[in-house]
Order: sequence, then structure tokens, then C-alpha cells
Amino acid sequence: MGGDNQKRGMISGLSPLLLLFNLIIFTSARHDHKSPSSSPSPSLPVYNPPDNYLIDCGSEQRTQLEDGRTFKSDPETTSFLQSTENIKTSVDSISLNDSSAPLSTFPLCRTARIFSENSIYTFYITQPGRHWVRLYFYPLPHPRYNLTDAVFSVNADKLVLLHEFSARDNSRVVFKEYLINITGERFFLWFKPDKGSCSFINAIEVVSVPDSLISDSASTVPSGGTIQGLSNYALQVLYRLNVAKKASRLGEAKQLLVMAPPPLFQPH
Ligand SMILES: *[C@@H]1O[C@H](CO)[C@@H](O)[C@H](O)[C@H]1NC(C)=O
Ligand SMILES: *[C@@H]1O[C@H](CO)[C@@H](O)[C@H](O)[C@H]1NC(C)=O
Ligand SMILES: *[C@@H]1O[C@H](CO)[C@@H](O)[C@H](O)[C@H]1NC(C)=O
Repeated sequence: MGGDNQKRGMISGLSPLLLLFNLIIFTSARHDHKSPSSSPSPSLPVYNPPDNYLIDCGSEQRTQLEDGRTFKSDPETTSFLQSTENIKTSVDSISLNDSSAPLSTFPLCRTARIFSENSIYTFYITQPGRHWVRLYFYPLPHPRYNLTDAVFSVNADKLVLLHEFSARDNSRVVFKEYLINITGERFFLWFKPDKGSCSFINAIEVVSVPDSLISDSASTVPSGGTIQGLSNYALQVLYRLNVAKKASRLGEAKQLLVMAPPPLFQPH
């Protein structure tokens, strides 16, 4: 399996943090994404992402969040998954007091899928371009697999998103958010356990981002310079700060995204 680490991502050379002011239009499931043309709201400029994969891994039912979005169940999404295994775990409720994920997403973390071998999710991309890729990790109990001990990597196509990652604190959800320009027709998410370990995932989002959302230049901190050509980079969101207290009724919120390229891992 060593060969696929040979290619590095397109992210070398960009190291400062990037500050981007953006108007985030939160996508919502006001329209069922399975029937995009059936009942368009006449006047509301709601963005309907062409690609909108929302998966509640390990869950027997769909999960609807307070924000209106519905995550598909595990059985509905097994066609995306290449794995020799079918290991799931779930609890009725979780009590958390810390999370980098929005509170409203906690219901997604009551279930998880566990992999003891390399496993791949494949997503068909209808419109190439920038996508949010969001991953939720919460180490649930399982009689055989101790998820707080799990050490694994997650690759997205040729990018290493997480390397020897673990989620050891079962009082918090680990939420990872990336902005990736997907250029191919298919997008792969690889879960690769370290030797003798396992990997797991509670929920996955792969969602198109409108081109206008991210400007192609951004200021850098601390130097205050400007970087051009952001579209060529994959970015990881470090912080999301609401800068406009009142979101409008369309669900718009001005946010300051503090972003950085995912750490670059040298192949051994
Ligand atoms: C989180 O909960 C644990 C156990 O309930 C407690 O020990 C800890 O102090 C709490 N942390 C915070 C930041 O509230
Ligand atoms: C899981 O591993 C952690 C860290 O090694 C340990 O503290 C915990 O007791 C283990 N849990 C179980 C159920 O074995
Ligand atoms: C994504 O990458 C392709 C190929 O490098 C480029 O042509 C395109 O402009 C990029 N799109 C965005 C939205 O950054």
C-alpha cells in the first residue's frame, strides 16, 4: 500500500494562514436534493449545491439536523463505500461539553462506521470546482474496537487530510473541515488504519461551494501580504468566527474563515 503516498498534494509552498472574509450562504435541505427541479421556491435565492453528499455513517435511519439538512443513512449510502467489512456502532445519546463542530450536528455522532482495513468512499462529482469536505469524529464505544486508541490516516484523492490521526478524548467531537477544488469526476476518501489499528468516521459531507464564495486572493497573517491564485490550493478551515451577529432569514452569515493548507506530509 506504500505507493499511493508517493504523490504529494498541490499544497506545497503556501504556508501562511489565510484570512478570508466571506458571505457564507448556508445550504439547507429546504429542497429535497433528490428532486432539485420539482418545487423551486420562486423568489428565494437559495443555493442548491450540485453535489450534496451528507452521510450519517453507521446510522440505520436518516438524520435531520436543526438546520434543516438531512443526512442519509448508512444503508442508503453503502454504494459509495468500498470495504470488505460492515462494522458499525451506536449509542442512544452522547454527552459532550466541547466540540469544534456546531452543537446542532451532535446527533450525527451517535453512530459510527469502523474499518479495520483500508476502505474508500467514492463520490461522483457532477460539477467540478470547490467543495466543502467535512469529517466528524467521535470515539464511540464498541465491544471489540477501542476507538479512542484508533490511529489512522485519511486521504482525499492525492491529498493527505489526516496523518496518524486519533481522537482520544471522548468528551469532544473532532470536526475537520476542508475546502478542496475537485477537478475529476470522482472524489475518493480513503480511510487507512495504522498497522494493528482501526479507523472510524461518524459523518461525512461533500458539498459544492458556489464559485463566488471564495475570492481568489486573501490576506495572510501575520505578514498582511496578499496571496493570489487560491483556487490552486486545498485549504483547511482552522476557525470560523461569526462576524455578523444577526444572520438574515435566508441563513446568511458573514464569517471570517481562518484557513491554512493541510499540513504537508512527506512520503517516507
Ligand atoms: C466536561 O465534562 C467533564 C465530565 O463531565 C468534566 O470533568 C469537565 O470539567 C467538563 N469540561 C468543561 C470544559 O466543562
Ligand atoms: C481504550 O483505550 C484507552 C486508552 O488506551 C483506555 O484508557 C480505555 O480504558 C480503553 N477502553 C476500553 C473500553 O478498553
Ligand atoms: C479548480 O482547478 C482547476 C484546474 O486547476 C481550475 O481550472 C479551476 O479554475 C479551479 N476552480 C476553482 C473554483 O478554483
